[in-house]
Amino acid sequence: MEYLHPNDSATLVHIYKAQRYLLLPIQEEQSEVLVRLVGDRAEDTFLDIRLAVDSIDYYVPFPLPEGEECKIEIVGLGKEAITWQSLQLSDSFDTSKKDYYHPSYHHTPPYGWMNDPNGMFYKDGTYHLYYQYNPFGSKWGNMYWGHATSRDLIHWQTHEPALARDTLGHIFSGSAVIDRMGTAGFGKDAILAYYTAHRSLGGKQWQAQCLAYSTDNGMTYTKYQGNPILTPFDGVADFRDPKVFWYAPREAWYMIVSADKEMRFYRSEDLKKWDYVSAFGEGYGARPNQFECPDFFELPMPETGERKWVMLVNINPGCPFGGSATEYFIGTFDGETFTPDTKPEVARWLDFGKDHYAFVTFHGVKERILGMPWTSNWQYANVTPFKQSRGMNGLPRELFLFSSAGRSYVGSRPAREVTALRREQILQPDLMLRDSVLFSNLMKDYAGDFELELEFTPDPAVERVGFTLLNEEGDSLPVYLDMKQGRVVMDRTRSGITDFGEKATPHERESGDWRQREGLNYHNDFALSTWAPLELCVRRSYRLRLFIDRSLAELFVEDGRIAMTNLIFPHSPYTSLRLFSEGGKTKVTHFRLYHLSL
Ligand code: FRU
Repeated sequence: MEYLHPNDSATLVHIYKAQRYLLLPIQEEQSEVLVRLVGDRAEDTFLDIRLAVDSIDYYVPFPLPEGEECKIEIVGLGKEAITWQSLQLSDSFDTSKKDYYHPSYHHTPPYGWMNDPNGMFYKDGTYHLYYQYNPFGSKWGNMYWGHATSRDLIHWQTHEPALARDTLGHIFSGSAVIDRMGTAGFGKDAILAYYTAHRSLGGKQWQAQCLAYSTDNGMTYTKYQGNPILTPFDGVADFRDPKVFWYAPREAWYMIVSADKEMRFYRSEDLKKWDYVSAFGEGYGARPNQFECPDFFELPMPETGERKWVMLVNINPGCPFGGSATEYFIGTFDGETFTPDTKPEVARWLDFGKDHYAFVTFHGVKERILGMPWTSNWQYANVTPFKQSRGMNGLPRELFLFSSAGRSYVGSRPAREVTALRREQILQPDLMLRDSVLFSNLMKDYAGDFELELEFTPDPAVERVGFTLLNEEGDSLPVYLDMKQGRVVMDRTRSGITDFGEKATPHERESGDWRQREGLNYHNDFALSTWAPLELCVRRSYRLRLFIDRSLAELFVEDGRIAMTNLIFPHSPYTSLRLFSEGGKTKVTHFRLYHLSL
């Protein structure tokens, strides 16, 4: 390896015989500099990488043409930076070192940054999950589609990224479909991936829809020569996250795309040329908020079997607790227009936590609507206490319609496959609870990975009933029913680390970077309780199911009528449990604790 400094800020690293990777040292608080493999493929574009200046947080592997001579161009890094003494050629990259908060049974990439799930589909017994991925650091940037597959929705195998950032831009979110008939001209059973190309030009953002196809069942993709395939007719700057679906009554493919504060429908005959149909959303739901990551599918009403259309709208900001969240609308669709059943001012939430975003569903799953959320919030996603890998997906969930007090809702319950994670269990006898009971060290051997299940039947006088998870450091996570206010609450105010504000770099605070635009008061944004209305449950008994995986808490009430997903950062795993019932007695039944592991 030899360094050539043509001028003060641009350096060429000349590698005479490349190994598989050049290991790049990263210092997260530094600004991004430009790094590029010199070449003529569209993917040989400049990447934004936080190369180390005076200390190293971790390394990332930069892929090289193995065995060949090559050059890497680095622009913007001072001559004194420790990167210059730390670059290493290597044939392997060690991902065995895990962050303290690394989840044990949720999907997460082995290194780098992850946000939205993308292009999920199911074919021949395999679930494919792609995701917004930065392979060159654990903060948002350099969007690729990372790739993982699973046969059981629980064990995920990581593959090479499927789509790389290129000269058209970052590879933003989107969807995939199986083209069984070969309509697009890439053969029968080709997988078609639709994504948004995003780049900034002279301070202005440009976004357009693109297509890539795979003829090997989604393992590798070729970008379509005619990209982009769809640009906005009115030049709207926020135009992204295409979701393609089949609409049987018209035997036609449709695409739904977010366009600023609305969703737009398009229709196509050849899956390449798309014609505008209609728009929905302006003035509807929580507003005025940026619409992102749409989904659109049918679900039956349980009582009548009547099929309704559901539109998922991920909005940022707009979450009742600040930042990003998943909203939905139930209504009808006639191939031209979507008409919601609710008034414009009604906002409905798929999850009542603060860390549930970009929920989208799998294409190709027949008997159920199955999807996954990314479990973070754009307010603080870039500064959570992770290093080696930042970002994880929630448990796979099945969506269903239900009604309560004459209104229709979408519920979200863990997919049945999740029970395969259960190992040992502790069964507790039923009990009549008054005041409080401490189960000291109940979860001691479960090292932060468990599922707790119980049912509360409170007497009418009860004001609050629930439980608190506790550890030896004095952190606590109360989860309870507030019968007076009619709410189920998860309070992470004292759950562990709640203030990671100091990790926001001055650069992030000052710059107008694409993802740093909102919310810098991490303490107040993180340390809070989230709640959901108990009126979604109709019985006088409440069955709670709580999953804890190191830094994630997912609560489901009444089999998913209420879902609540929150990040937590306890200083050590919660080991004890205190049950409490205030104001009256509560019967506790079905009380079980499971150790979960892969
Ligand atoms: C949602 C989102 C999408 C976009 C992607 C970029 O979290 O903002 O709208 O495609 O993230 O990574």
